[in-house]
Amino acid sequence: MRVRVLGTAAGGGVPQWNCACHGCAAARAHPSWRRLHASIAIEASPGRWYVVNATPDIAEQIEANPDLHPGPERRRTPVAGVVLTDAELDHTLGLPRLREARDLRVVATGTVRDALARGLRMDRVLAPYTSLTWSDLPEDEPVPLDGAGGVAIRAVRVSGKRPRYAADLDLPDGAWSVALHVTDRRSGASLVYAPALAGWPSGLGRALSAADCVIVDGTFWDDDEPRRSGFTDRTATAMGHLPISGPGGTAARLAALPAARRLYTHLNNTNPLVDPGHDGHRTLAGMGIEVASEGQVIDL
Ligand code: MLT
Ligand code: MN
Ligand code: ZN
Repeated sequence: MRVRVLGTAAGGGVPQWNCACHGCAAARAHPSWRRLHASIAIEASPGRWYVVNATPDIAEQIEANPDLHPGPERRRTPVAGVVLTDAELDHTLGLPRLREARDLRVVATGTVRDALARGLRMDRVLAPYTSLTWSDLPEDEPVPLDGAGGVAIRAVRVSGKRPRYAADLDLPDGAWSVALHVTDRRSGASLVYAPALAGWPSGLGRALSAADCVIVDGTFWDDDEPRRSGFTDRTATAMGHLPISGPGGTAARLAALPAARRLYTHLNNTNPLVDPGHDGHRTLAGMGIEVASEGQVIDL
């Protein structure tokens, strides 16, 4: 199974359009600091790719990765569908950018689908342009992406954290945010993709312990970072993102996993790791942890 990293930034990207913080300003001057919104693509069968989360950058991400280019027929695309881990804007605003599709398969939990339909009116808005075909992503049940015997994805509930636009929607608590446990049934190899870790429930811990590669939430370096940078009064944890370092940080937990590869993604522009020369990269490397980078290929 081949996985391609399409982007590695939290909502806003690096640089963020209205931000002149150190990381955003440096990213305007130095291309190596730039990061598109967090996303991966999974090759479910030869030449058929599923993009995990439809970010506002999805069209640029497709252009930047030749595996995802259309052809040889004029309107033939290797992008077979989109899988959603949650209904956050940074993971779903790319759906309207794909409206030129003849039809579009979207795999998501019922909760995420309802949030998009009721909170954003996504189905109504897109109906005149394309037809969205929803595939249910039940919790804890493997769903084959492209026929039995190939790649299957299993949703593992991470938290009930709702997007802010959905705070008042009359929708039950449910699988608002899931991790994906992606298994290649031919090789038995598996990957866990979890771009939003609001907690570390036991089911998630089991999936992470069973995976050969994990790509997880690296939004903030430490818990106080969002407050210190002045854009909010809330800590990282209160914003639904366990920090990397410090007490309860995810780095120590990742280091203890048996996975051969452990990577962080979804970096906020305040995270010191957006500086490619920051010491934190060496600290993490010493723990067997990498920061994911755009275009990176992971073969499992
Ligand atoms: C998050 O990851 O917490 C959300 O995407 C925040 C946002 O973009 O509004
Ligand atoms: Mn986000
Ligand atoms: Zn910034």
